[in-house]
Amino acid sequence: MDIARTPSTPDGNPELADAARTPQEPPTIRREDYQPFPWTVPEVSLDFDLGLEATRIVSTLKVARNPAAEASPTIRLNGDGLEVVSVAIDGEPSNGWTMDGDDLLLTLPGEAHEIRIVTEIDPSANTQLMGLYASDGMLCTQCEAQGFRRITFFPDRPDVLSTYRVKMHGDAETFPVLLCNGNLESTGKDEDGTHWAEWHDPWPKPSYLFALVAGQLVANTDSFTTMNGREVTLNIYVRDGDLDRTGHAMESLKKSMRWDEETFGREYDLDLFNIVAVSDFNMGAMENKGLNVFNTKYVLADEDTATDGDFDGVEGVIAHEYFHNWSGNRITCRDWFQLSLKEGFTVLRDQLFSQDMGSAPVKRIEDVRVLRGAQFPEDSGPLAHPIRPDSYREISNFYTATVYNKGAEVIRMMRTMCGEERFRKGTDLYFDRHDGEAATCEDFVRAIEEGAGLDLEQFRRWYSQAGTPKITVRLEHAGNTATLHLSQDVPATPGQPEKQPMPIPLKLALFDRESKSHRGEELIVLDSQEASFTFEGFAQPPVLSINRGFSAPVVIERDIAQDDLVFLAAHDDDPFARYEALQDLIVSHLKQSVNGDLADAERDSARTAIAAAIRAVLQDDALDDLMRGELLVLPSETYLAETMAVADPGRIHEERQALRAAIGATLKDDFSALHKRASAVPYSLQPEARGARKVKTQALMFLAAGDPELGRAMAWAQYEAADNMTDRQGALMVLTGVDGIERTNALLDFYNRYKGNALVVDKWFALQAGSMHPNTIEHVKALAEHPDFTMKNPNRVRSLFMAFAYNPHAFHAADGEGYRLVADVILALDPINPQTAARFVPQLGKWRRMEPKRSAMMKEQLERIASAPALSRDTYEQVSRSLG
Ligand code: PHE
Ligand code: ZN
Repeated sequence: MDIARTPSTPDGNPELADAARTPQEPPTIRREDYQPFPWTVPEVSLDFDLGLEATRIVSTLKVARNPAAEASPTIRLNGDGLEVVSVAIDGEPSNGWTMDGDDLLLTLPGEAHEIRIVTEIDPSANTQLMGLYASDGMLCTQCEAQGFRRITFFPDRPDVLSTYRVKMHGDAETFPVLLCNGNLESTGKDEDGTHWAEWHDPWPKPSYLFALVAGQLVANTDSFTTMNGREVTLNIYVRDGDLDRTGHAMESLKKSMRWDEETFGREYDLDLFNIVAVSDFNMGAMENKGLNVFNTKYVLADEDTATDGDFDGVEGVIAHEYFHNWSGNRITCRDWFQLSLKEGFTVLRDQLFSQDMGSAPVKRIEDVRVLRGAQFPEDSGPLAHPIRPDSYREISNFYTATVYNKGAEVIRMMRTMCGEERFRKGTDLYFDRHDGEAATCEDFVRAIEEGAGLDLEQFRRWYSQAGTPKITVRLEHAGNTATLHLSQDVPATPGQPEKQPMPIPLKLALFDRESKSHRGEELIVLDSQEASFTFEGFAQPPVLSINRGFSAPVVIERDIAQDDLVFLAAHDDDPFARYEALQDLIVSHLKQSVNGDLADAERDSARTAIAAAIRAVLQDDALDDLMRGELLVLPSETYLAETMAVADPGRIHEERQALRAAIGATLKDDFSALHKRASAVPYSLQPEARGARKVKTQALMFLAAGDPELGRAMAWAQYEAADNMTDRQGALMVLTGVDGIERTNALLDFYNRYKGNALVVDKWFALQAGSMHPNTIEHVKALAEHPDFTMKNPNRVRSLFMAFAYNPHAFHAADGEGYRLVADVILALDPINPQTAARFVPQLGKWRRMEPKRSAMMKEQLERIASAPALSRDTYEQVSRSLG
């Protein structure tokens, strides 16, 4: 590993020798310290002599003094683990360079110079998957955020924009396809069996958007005509055998391109758009200019190997990366603290796109579920940070649910407050004003403010303050008046003990109990710590529906009767609010039962009320199955833990399972009938058929809990009858959670049927690691020894160990074995792939919110990791913040 944190030790200096033995703290980078780079780099030319084990890079930079920055004769070119082969300045070989840590420093006397640097790297040894690496016999790059400095020395920061000319040269058999950003300008063959391609990208870009790919690939080729008549060639490059699984990705791409024209007025700006699928990738995908690199998971899909959820994942990620061409590439970030400028906005754009492509309410519920499951815990724990962080040690640790998903919610609130049309005026102004720039979140807010005519003065606090606001809601009724009392509390977070009130846009409706209707939705904005709102003309106390559509990313504490929740769960015309009422009903019951606050009779009556509400959902003909399926999702154990000041994951698991069993037993006939009806719907990708598949597996889960014998038999039957992955995986998930011969047979059949298909084998690992089975830890330990398991492939690591770490009952095993296992994984993975290793730390970081015994064991594991020698910057930062 080449994280250069241990300084070399000059002989004979005991003080320094001592310092060298104590691992040095990686420095903290602060937002307020931003300075423009003293040099501009208008043009870059790169020459790659490609080889899997040795690649030689000749980089030629045209540099000039930056008039907008304080002058400096020194230019700092970042490197990471690189060695200089040679340096030339203005055509003359130079020895006048020095190293400062991993960076190369040059002194330049004049206004403008040409720097030529030669480096040589070994892509096959690159297990971090940052920079240039080998994957499955091909070469590819990943440069965001700071991977380019692992290829060549460069001012590797997003505010240095250059046009790139790249010549790729390599063996024609090993690398028949040579791809880079922009347009292909020329190609040629040499006599020694090598060939070359020269690419030019006319759009200035920061180094993090650079990409190249070289290897044996085949393309699904199509085309798109833009709104102004530009013919764009579209290619999706994959491995030979995977071509027939690229159709959905191609359709998704064309839909994205059309949608961005229609919804945001954004047109594509090159004649070529390439996507490449690679099987070794740290994240989902990457928006490199004109050459998106994707995790295979978000490209390949067909009915036999991908679930409906996988299809949606492909569509959403293809859209996300495509949308970055404007929100990210044409307008990029000034510095990495502004990451949410591109990510929050692009997530909002992909969410709105997916809402338009399918069921908008269902998509909204899914997005809120992700926010609550991933972002709320972040915001309430030691790793909490504002969507625009103030400091970091390793930027890779800030590709978080906060920056992405809460960032999207913050922009969505602006849109809610001004409405779609004015919001579009704001985004038009933003794109127009900042095109070609490296911008800030403040630039974005100002453009929306001016373009949409919206005062966002106080709203800016959403960028600077971390923590999920808690809103306390009480509705009072007297005479003809309903009065809504609201107060807000933004909790203290690390480094932010005191908070200012935030503007909270809340959509609400007041229901008349008799007519079961309301007079129209209203939007109020709570912008002080406390406020009251009055509503006239209510002879009877109305039922309050609030935060409809999840208009603000907050926690609502409402003083509401169980009967009123039952009313809203049955009658609310806002699908999200209806879902929310049912969730609230279940959450408040489970909180009480977990705390042991319920007498048997109380528990029975609450379970009866919940089962009745669910039966109403099953019987409501006005619901489609996709929405019905959403309403049937029980609040997750993670979300339940989040609603409690101190959580006992063991109790939460027991009570939630017991509730599922009670509902399954009570509604056995209803669920059996639902399963039968849904099983008769033939496979298609239409919403009705997708809905049927969704409720089918939901029904199985309830039945398996309520009547294990019956559930097992039905799951096995569903598995055997399955003609698609959604049904097959759903059935296998249920079977994996219970003992029996069906479990063994189905797991064996699934493996044999799909062995060799990496993405499906990932599912096989993940199903077992994410299982409800009581022996999951033992299964996971055994699977870690399986010949198909490897620590070198992030998808495989995630499929086994992430699935385990996010499986609450297994991870939180009472004896602490889950914590030990995850700590072992972090320590073993850190030297191989620090970025992925660090992503496991937040689970242990939840220690302060757990009951004392588990809390102590989690902390102990964090301390064990902290005391390990030579931790990466990534893991060091996450562990020290988690303990802090
Ligand atoms: N920028 C990518 C996205 O959100 C995510 C990413 C970050 C990928 C860092 C790789 C490395 O679309
Ligand atoms: Zn993104």
